[in-house]
Amino acid sequence: MSTALPTHVAIVMDGNGRWARARGLPRAAGHRQGAEALRRCIVGAGELGIRYLTLFGFSSENWNRPFGEVQDLMGLLRHYLRSEIADLHGKGARLRVIGDRTRFDPDIVALIDNAEELTRGNDLLNLTLAISYGARDEIVAAARALAADAAAGRIDPKSIDAHAFQARLFTADLPDPDVFIRTSGEKRLSNFLLWQSAYAELVFVDKYWPDFGKADLEDAVREFNRRERRFGAVG
Ligand code: IPE
Ligand code: MG
Repeated sequence: MSTALPTHVAIVMDGNGRWARARGLPRAAGHRQGAEALRRCIVGAGELGIRYLTLFGFSSENWNRPFGEVQDLMGLLRHYLRSEIADLHGKGARLRVIGDRTRFDPDIVALIDNAEELTRGNDLLNLTLAISYGARDEIVAAARALAADAAAGRIDPKSIDAHAFQARLFTADLPDPDVFIRTSGEKRLSNFLLWQSAYAELVFVDKYWPDFGKADLEDAVREFNRRERRFGAVG
């Protein structure tokens, strides 16, 4: 592909449940296939040379799903963290997990901490999983941190700018997404990377997430190349 690569691709992985329902399978089967698609997508991103990949796996609102489904998803996360990290590390990938960790079981928090620590020095692929994540909560937390710094006299409120704000988001050390993909035909942002995606090119894919693969990632890159990004200036 003689095209420019986006530095950072963000994906809302949606449609596991509908993929399963279309096959008469339980939702859990859709989530298991979704985890396979995640694995393929990470490999594909690595092969294409994409440096930053951020995936929305579980929103702060998803905690409201039936207990059994939340348990299934947490089980998959636990399994993923146990079985995939050594491989990711071997491939030179760095894992970050963004979101509210206070709601995870302690063993999951420990697995996340260990995975982040192990892969901290890697930079070939920066893989970020958004789990128990909500962009409004993230933005509110950044505002709260700035307010606390100002109230304590550590910063001058007049010094607060977009840079100071972004430095207090979970994604402080990540570039903004260039491409924002959502699968399953839904055309919503659903509280994912709201601040960071200010200038992202939105790409909506009709396929359900378990059917998404490297070819779809390449299609999204081609679509990104067809768009003219002006960042508010004149083309
Ligand atoms: C995406 O698939 C995975 C999660 C949000 C955990 P869904 O579970 O949202 O699947 P649909 O939208 O019901 O098809
Ligand atoms: Mg959904």
